[in-house]
Amino acid sequence: MFPSGFSLCVTVIAAVSAAPVCAAEIVFDDFEKSSYGDWKVEGVAFGDQPATGAFDNQNPVEGFEGAHLVNSYVGGDESRGRLTSPKFRIEKPFVAFLIGGGPYDGRTCMNLVVDGKVVRTATGAGDERLAASGWDVRDLRGKTAHLEIVDDADGGWGHVNVDRIAFTDSEPPLAAGTQNRDFAVNGAWLNFPVRKGAPMRTVTVTANGEEVRRFHIELDENNPEWWAPLDVRAWKGKTMTVSVDKARPTTLEAITNADSVPGTADLYAESLRPQFHFSARRGWINDPNGLVFYNGEYHLFFQHNPYGTEWGNMHWGHAVSKDLVHWREVGEALYPDEWGTMYSGGGVVDWKNTTGFGSAGKPPMIVHYTAAGEHMPANKPYTQGMAWTTDGRTFTKYEGHPIVDNLSRGNRDPKVYWHEPTRKWVMALWGEEDGGNVFYFLNSPDMKKWTLTQTLRGDAFGNGRFLHECPDFFELPVDGDEKNRKWVVFGATGEYGIGSFDGRRFRLDETKLPGPAGDAAYAGQTFADEPNGRRVWVGWFRAPSPGMPFNHAMTLPMELRLTTTPDGVRLTHTPVEELKSLRGRETKVGSFNLASGEAKTWNGAELMEVRSVFRPAASAIVTFEVRGVPIIYDAARQELSVAGTAMPARLQDGVMDLAIFVDRTTVEVVASRGEAFIPVATIADAGAKTVRVSSREGSAEFQSLDLFELRSAWRTAIAANEP
Ligand code: FRU
Repeated sequence: MFPSGFSLCVTVIAAVSAAPVCAAEIVFDDFEKSSYGDWKVEGVAFGDQPATGAFDNQNPVEGFEGAHLVNSYVGGDESRGRLTSPKFRIEKPFVAFLIGGGPYDGRTCMNLVVDGKVVRTATGAGDERLAASGWDVRDLRGKTAHLEIVDDADGGWGHVNVDRIAFTDSEPPLAAGTQNRDFAVNGAWLNFPVRKGAPMRTVTVTANGEEVRRFHIELDENNPEWWAPLDVRAWKGKTMTVSVDKARPTTLEAITNADSVPGTADLYAESLRPQFHFSARRGWINDPNGLVFYNGEYHLFFQHNPYGTEWGNMHWGHAVSKDLVHWREVGEALYPDEWGTMYSGGGVVDWKNTTGFGSAGKPPMIVHYTAAGEHMPANKPYTQGMAWTTDGRTFTKYEGHPIVDNLSRGNRDPKVYWHEPTRKWVMALWGEEDGGNVFYFLNSPDMKKWTLTQTLRGDAFGNGRFLHECPDFFELPVDGDEKNRKWVVFGATGEYGIGSFDGRRFRLDETKLPGPAGDAAYAGQTFADEPNGRRVWVGWFRAPSPGMPFNHAMTLPMELRLTTTPDGVRLTHTPVEELKSLRGRETKVGSFNLASGEAKTWNGAELMEVRSVFRPAASAIVTFEVRGVPIIYDAARQELSVAGTAMPARLQDGVMDLAIFVDRTTVEVVASRGEAFIPVATIADAGAKTVRVSSREGSAEFQSLDLFELRSAWRTAIAANEP
């Protein structure tokens, strides 16, 4: 595969003379054949011939030339393989090609190899579209070389697309290499410019030659939408090196080291910032983690991508509160490490210092997490770990990691509970076995060595999602009777089971009881060591804030109780008392009647709590429109629906009670004394501020209607730049 006359070529101008015809560009391979020809094929990822476009389950592949290209998605992202070209001599100043697919250096790439060494490399940009790229190879003229197209990655973007490789005289857009920049650190933050949709880069940060941080980020130095701060206080006075793959020098120049974060003047006042629900200052959040009360503070950790508004780079963010309502974010508690990214888990106070991490009178707080090893930077199975603190701010990972080895592929989300009767720690852990959800139960005297005591089966996949991800379990009195206690267990959907637990094994009397309606609330868990003896639950509120430098929120904290109902013992949700501290101007409407077909309207506010107790006629349909969001009670069906998400809500002595909370991206409704809880993500029209109540198909007799304007929970000015 050494095009004849190749080395005789000078320039295109020579072609007009009588000299041998010589092209400005020589196509090495355009893959327009039904085989790879002289290329050596290894593994399965490339199939045995060039592709004709996308494969099944692959997004559309565009930007290639002709009818064929190289596409290593044969067998999906999981497959691996390698194509090795025949040898050639480098004569032209540039190599030009089209490349797309995964952005992973060394793993989804094309390499130029000289003397057994990779001397040039290029990857896709995390985009199926192939883009023009190339190398300047003037310094390699005359050398013998070959190309390797490598797919040594699985998971998202675990493939590479290549087409039309040519040797040229004219410079193609050059594949950017890794760029480095040293910082003599004197500010608290390294600030990275982010724009959603910009090419995804891998950033590594080293100090004293050791890699201390690594993450993926959509960097855009020209047109940033927001700045992602990285806390570097620990390295003040030292030199850190920031490396960015596929970067231009200007990308590095844009990164700043300062004591402030650019663009945070309107922090917590952004148009779609939830005002009394927790959200992160910057970046994506999902599950609440490590909920625990310790040293006078409630701690809320959360799945956090500090560098983007979509899921990824899982860290544990951290916020604290004295009252479950006003939160202060205090920086990342857990960073990804060589075992993986930091997935969900719980937290406890180790009162008896069973771990030995504390001292007399100073019990440590312990958090349990999953190291999701399949994700960058690790390539390991998922394992469970723990970290401890005695100041509630700085965390030390236990050096004996893992505390629980991999039990099944993606096993995760450890939640630990002190079981006093057996004086043991109990861990619930989600896993999958034989195509179904399981919760593993393990116990331990010291949280370091764990013994499996039960594998509790939930649903088979596809049959619902009972006991799927994020386990939690606890004991509660029934109707407040301490002598009659029952155990509750649930997973991320909130569907729960009730039964007994002896410290080793659960016995469930009832399963698949519905938790919160709909799918807006997910992966909730309850606080350990709640000082008032309450079981307080917080869920991840899948409530997007489109276009904002942050995304998603947490639900309001809800107290869980067990209550006897005509259907049996059921879990109820009650918004915690502390929320009353948000109440501002109040309109007490008092009692009134609504005839069928009648409506009444009051002025409200952007942030509102509405409470009402009413007796609907047997067939009445009573509609509340709070800032335009419809909340409809159908008395005949005894069903409540909130912006289309419905759930049964029974009348009690003929009466319905509602508590409605409306924030900028959310509505939560609790009804029937907590038996029904409907959280819904919705962005009400900013101008809509009224409350309208109407009845049809029958009348409604209102005992009360109270409208409260709520204050922002962020009123306690929070320093934007405080780590
Ligand atoms: C649930 C979940 C957990 C996992 C975490 C990762 O939302 O999938 O199982 O630990 O999110 O962010």
